[in-house]
Amino acid sequence: SWTTSSIVDEQVAAIRAQVGDKRAICGLSGGVDSAVAAALVQRAVGSQLTCVYVDHGLMRKGETEQVEKDFVAATGVRLRVVDASERFLRALEGIADPEDKRKIIGREFIRVFERAQAELVAEAGAAGADVAFLVQGTLYPDVVESGGGTGTANIKSHHNVGGLPEDLEFELVEPLRWLFKDEVRMVGQELGLPEDIVQRQPFPGPGLGIRIVGEVNRERLEVLREADAIAREELTAAGLDREIWQCPVVLLADVRSVGVQGDGRTYGHPVVLRPVSSDDAMTADWSRLPYDVLARISTRITNEVTGVNRVALDVTSKPPGTIEWE
Ligand code: XMP
Repeated sequence: SWTTSSIVDEQVAAIRAQVGDKRAICGLSGGVDSAVAAALVQRAVGSQLTCVYVDHGLMRKGETEQVEKDFVAATGVRLRVVDASERFLRALEGIADPEDKRKIIGREFIRVFERAQAELVAEAGAAGADVAFLVQGTLYPDVVESGGGTGTANIKSHHNVGGLPEDLEFELVEPLRWLFKDEVRMVGQELGLPEDIVQRQPFPGPGLGIRIVGEVNRERLEVLREADAIAREELTAAGLDREIWQCPVVLLADVRSVGVQGDGRTYGHPVVLRPVSSDDAMTADWSRLPYDVLARISTRITNEVTGVNRVALDVTSKPPGTIEWE
C-alpha cells in the first residue's frame, strides 16, 4: 500500500544516513522482527550488512532452512550461519529445571553470537573498526515499555579468541522502533519476504528447549519436532492460523503411559497441545478448536511419531497457566 511503501522509503533513507559507508551486523532469530529489520537494512546498505544466525538446535522443523534458504533468496542478504547445536545440547545435559534451561540457553546464545561478531570484526581487518552498527528489531511497544531512548550495545567478550578485540562497541540501528507488529508484517510483505516468515506466530527464544518437560536431548527434540510439525500442518490446513495466537506442542518427556497399538503394548510419552487465543500474550484463553481438527492431529501424531502414544489438550487460561509450560 501507499503508506507501507512510504514507511519503507523513509526508513531506507534514515538507515543510509545513519550507517553511511560503515558496516552493520544483524542477528536473525527466525522471527518476524529481526527478519524485517534485516531486510530493511539490506535494502538500504546492501552488502555492508552481514546477518548472523545462531542455530541452537532448538528450532522447529524447517525453520532453520527457512532462514538459510528462503530468507536469503528473498533478500540477497549476506548470512553467516553458526551451527552451535552440539554446544547447546552439551550445556543442557542433565538440566531439567525450566529457569536453569532458560539461563543456560540465553548465556550460550550470547557467547556464540558475540564470538561471531568478534570474528566478523577481525576478518574485516584494518577496516574492522568500521563494523560499527548492530541492527535490532525493537518495536514501538518495546520502546515504550523500556522508557524510550536509543543506545549503544557494549559487548564484552569473556572468551579467549586470539587477536580479537576485547571490547566491541556498536551503535544500534532500530528501523522498527516506530512500528506496531501488524505494520512490521506489512513492511515485511512489501519487502517481499516469505509468507512463512512474515506471518509467523510467536515462538520463544529458547525454542523447543522449554517445550520438553524434563531433560533436553537430541532424540526428544526429534520426537517433539515431528509432533509439532504435524500439529502446525493440520492447523494451517484447517485455516486456523489467524484465529489462534499460537499452539505450543509440549513433550512430557519424564511421563510415560501404557497404550496399545497394532498388536502390541506400548509404554510411551504424552504430548500436550496448547492452543491459545490472545491479543498480547499477557492474558490468554484456550482456543476452542473444532473436534475434528483435534482428532486429526491426535490420530496423525500417535500414528506417525514413534514414542508418542497419547495426545492431551490443555484447557487452562492464562492466568493461571502461562502459555508455555516452562
Ligand atoms: P508465557 O509462557 O509467559 O509466554 O505465557 C508469553 C509469550 O511469550 C513467549 N515467550 C518467549 N518469547 N523468549 C521469547 O522471545 C522467551 O524466553 C519466551 N518465553 C515465552 C511465548 O511463546 C508467548 O507467546
